[in-house]
Amino acid sequence: MADVAAQLKPEVVPAYIASSVLDGQAREEAMGMMRRLAEHVRNSTTDQADGNWQEPVENYADEELFRAEVETVFKRIPLPLALSCELPGKNTYKALEAVGVPVVITRDAKGEVHAMLNVCRHRGALICAQGHGESRALTCPYHAWSYGLDGELRGIYGESTFGEFDKSERSLIQLPVVEAAGLIFVCLTPGLQIDIDSWLGDFKPILEGLKLDECHLYSSRMMPGPNWKVTIEGYLEGYHFASLHPNTVFKTNLSNTAIFDGYGPHERVAFALRNLENNLKEGKDVEELDPSANVGAIFWIFPGMSFAGAMRERMTCSLVLPTTRVDESMSEQRVLTRKPITDDNREELATFADFFYDVTYEEDYITGYGVQKGVRNVGGTTQIYGRNEPGVQYAHATINRLMEENHVEGMALPKRA
Ligand code: FES
Ligand SMILES: [Fe+2]
Repeated sequence: MADVAAQLKPEVVPAYIASSVLDGQAREEAMGMMRRLAEHVRNSTTDQADGNWQEPVENYADEELFRAEVETVFKRIPLPLALSCELPGKNTYKALEAVGVPVVITRDAKGEVHAMLNVCRHRGALICAQGHGESRALTCPYHAWSYGLDGELRGIYGESTFGEFDKSERSLIQLPVVEAAGLIFVCLTPGLQIDIDSWLGDFKPILEGLKLDECHLYSSRMMPGPNWKVTIEGYLEGYHFASLHPNTVFKTNLSNTAIFDGYGPHERVAFALRNLENNLKEGKDVEELDPSANVGAIFWIFPGMSFAGAMRERMTCSLVLPTTRVDESMSEQRVLTRKPITDDNREELATFADFFYDVTYEEDYITGYGVQKGVRNVGGTTQIYGRNEPGVQYAHATINRLMEENHVEGMALPKRA
């Protein structure tokens, strides 16, 4: 990894851009994070879990457990499959694949959001190619049946030749969907109810405080990765910054100096930025500092959406989801900005997006592929997470808890250390 890290030149590390967008309770929260981090910087400490945690390596590689996780967790919980700003206006849509399920999310002419299986009701073709679009209708490329953005079947090519059938029974299959806090949550099982207030709990006002609904989408790129648990772990601790990211993330963030807060299944991990250390060395009063310039916070929504830099002018939003294979995940990495995208900021946004894509893939994900290979070769042993990796511990505890709570007879449960 040192070789790869060395190839990334330090001068390409984009400067963070502070923001004064957070106000009210969100700003208080941010000040609270900065105070806690300042204490850690002064004392060379970090937030700690009560003890170590171990997880059998089979929990990253076992096919039966993986299938059970998909059925009992991924297909039953609300998944944050889009941001409100990805469907910025009326007659917009986003098509994607989530855990092997083709989904299309739309905002119709009334501004109402829908989610549906992206599967034509004629003979099953995928209707929309993956990505974002703007249209008043969704037209299947195979034989040109077309659907409204609410999923209703509207047009049949050569209808007079096709023969009679009940069109109202051939609408796209609806999925449960809710828009909240600038995010669009979809459940992959038709007919289930989403109770978003219970699912987000105390995390909801924190997400609302980030004003994600006011952001603009600059870019969205897909990134393959190893097993989903291996992949999400890299987002939830800063213990690896000095060793894995010496020329990139570690230029702006301190290593192993973090705070952690859990909110039901979700969590927030925040790292001390070098700015904070420098400001303290210069004797500045923490109360006078700007948290957006001194705190690097990750807001993380189970099972794998992380916002990095969400208190600043531009941020990355990554969503890690499993594919249909235990040893493969797919991440969608987006760059968002608080200012509209113009010719003035397009170039720096491109540099920022490339930097984060390269660091995440070349440093974190390539390391993750190594972990994937590693766990397959040390069967019967465990991974151990330190007291200084509370975010990773919490994610595993959550996965295991949800598996137990939703357990279905005949399905694998996580193995115990
Ligand atoms: S499969 Fe879509 S129109 Fe035939
Ligand atoms: Fe990393």
